[in-house]
Amino acid sequence: MTLGDWWRHGVVYQIYPRSFQDSNGDGIGDLPGITSRLDYLNDGTPGSLGVDAIWISPFYPSPQLDFGYDVADYTDVDPDYGTLADFDELVSEAHRRGIRVIVDFVPNHTSDRHRWFVESRSSRDNPKRGWYVWRDPAPDGGPPNNWRSTFARVGSAWTLDPATGQYYLHSFLPGQPDLEWWNEDVRAAMNDVLRFWLDRGVDGFRIDVAHKMAKDPDLGDNPPDADAPGARRRDEDWEPAIHEILRQFRRTIDGYDDRLAVGEVFILDPRRVVRYYGDALDELQLAFNFSFLRQPWRAPAFREAVSLYEAALPAGAWPDYALSNHDHSRARSRYDPADPMRALRRARVAMLMLLTLRGTPFLYQGEEIGQADGEVPPERVVDVDGRDPERTPMQWAAGPGAGFTTGEPWLPLGREANTVNVAAQSSDPDSMLSFTRRAIWFRKSSAALRAGTIRILDPEPDVLAYLREVDGERLAVALDFSGRDRRVDLVTALRGAGVDARRGAVVLATEAGAAAATSIDLQAVELRGDSGIVVRLA
Ligand code: GLC
Ligand code: CA
Repeated sequence: MTLGDWWRHGVVYQIYPRSFQDSNGDGIGDLPGITSRLDYLNDGTPGSLGVDAIWISPFYPSPQLDFGYDVADYTDVDPDYGTLADFDELVSEAHRRGIRVIVDFVPNHTSDRHRWFVESRSSRDNPKRGWYVWRDPAPDGGPPNNWRSTFARVGSAWTLDPATGQYYLHSFLPGQPDLEWWNEDVRAAMNDVLRFWLDRGVDGFRIDVAHKMAKDPDLGDNPPDADAPGARRRDEDWEPAIHEILRQFRRTIDGYDDRLAVGEVFILDPRRVVRYYGDALDELQLAFNFSFLRQPWRAPAFREAVSLYEAALPAGAWPDYALSNHDHSRARSRYDPADPMRALRRARVAMLMLLTLRGTPFLYQGEEIGQADGEVPPERVVDVDGRDPERTPMQWAAGPGAGFTTGEPWLPLGREANTVNVAAQSSDPDSMLSFTRRAIWFRKSSAALRAGTIRILDPEPDVLAYLREVDGERLAVALDFSGRDRRVDLVTALRGAGVDARRGAVVLATEAGAAAATSIDLQAVELRGDSGIVVRLA
């Protein structure tokens, strides 16, 4: 394999450390907990999940106002999660299993407890004053402009600091002041943070809100509807500065072998997102593609999302897909909250889609067992932005702490923890977990899935189908979104794509038993409602 293959061809598994595995009974997941579960993730055999990399959400010292996305020290570990020695142990145990480690990098803002901000706010002439965005009040005493925090509940993105009589900018919570990225010292210090972790052996970074660092230096007002299509926001995505910042990160990362920068570019228009790969592919190697998060469960919606993204990608840039993450509802809950059995079937179809499209799959912890969003009663709510349900603890086993903790979990366990869990599904060949494992290991064995081309087929509106192909290996994927059993004519659909094939074999299926068929007639492929298959063309 050549450089970069691991992140192009591998499956990346997102770990939300607070909710993955607690090792000391305090109800909070931690780094030793992650280490203890590495064999589950990949022990080198198909009895494990088989993921190639983990991305760990922030574990740095933090007051936890935004659960780690408010970083008080970029180069240490929060005592809740362990120590730097625990981190080193985690990296070496992961590497021993061939699992790469990606850490979260949060460059747009620090915590207000970070020593840089403590200094910055101490006086107007402190040397660190210019590391954050400080401005005088508007003539009426109000904030300098109309920018709003991303968290609706917060309101204005400015907070007045009475001690020095100026406002500071925070794109998120008041406890998350934005760094001043026009300041060269900030840029240098943050590139040093990257080197600190690269020197410790990490394989890459997930860059938090990678589009936010560069803003209009004149701090002009946003247009009245900043999210309307075509509106020019001034508080993010400011070109060309944003690209200079990312190119500098990339140069730092490229000083080491084979490392990855994947950015969270939360912009809805794919044509703007793909700009973050850089004109010379010298910025992010991957920008998260969030287009699936908003699609209704209909084949044409997903077909269009895939086509648009594929068409927008610059030549040589590599796609990626995600179904959910710690900020968004889980697939199981999103695609049919009213009917749990049907939702589970759809979650399998979504998983098969994620693992068979062209591009790197990002799989959020718990999706492999079809875990649902948790139900968090008002008195247990801890997040400012309504994201607790998708962060409830990983469901490992039946029993009081669900195998996650021996203590009281920091968020309530999901209602189904006793039935939907890793232990219950591990030995059941028909479970979602067994299906996900099969799909990941099949993907490993298939060059067409890992690296092949993709062509969208159009057999009928309710079915999303595509052909994956690489020298000599041809796989057709067909996914039903309608819930109706049907017979699909793949021969005609394939011919429309210039491919002549009449027979094939089902090699992977969401339905138990369906993958047994050795040779089928492609003109009349039996596809059950809410199911999906992968067919190897003869
Ligand atoms: C990203 C993170 C989210 C966090 C925000 C601010 O969107 O995924 O969890 O609240 O950035 O850092
Ligand atoms: Ca713990």
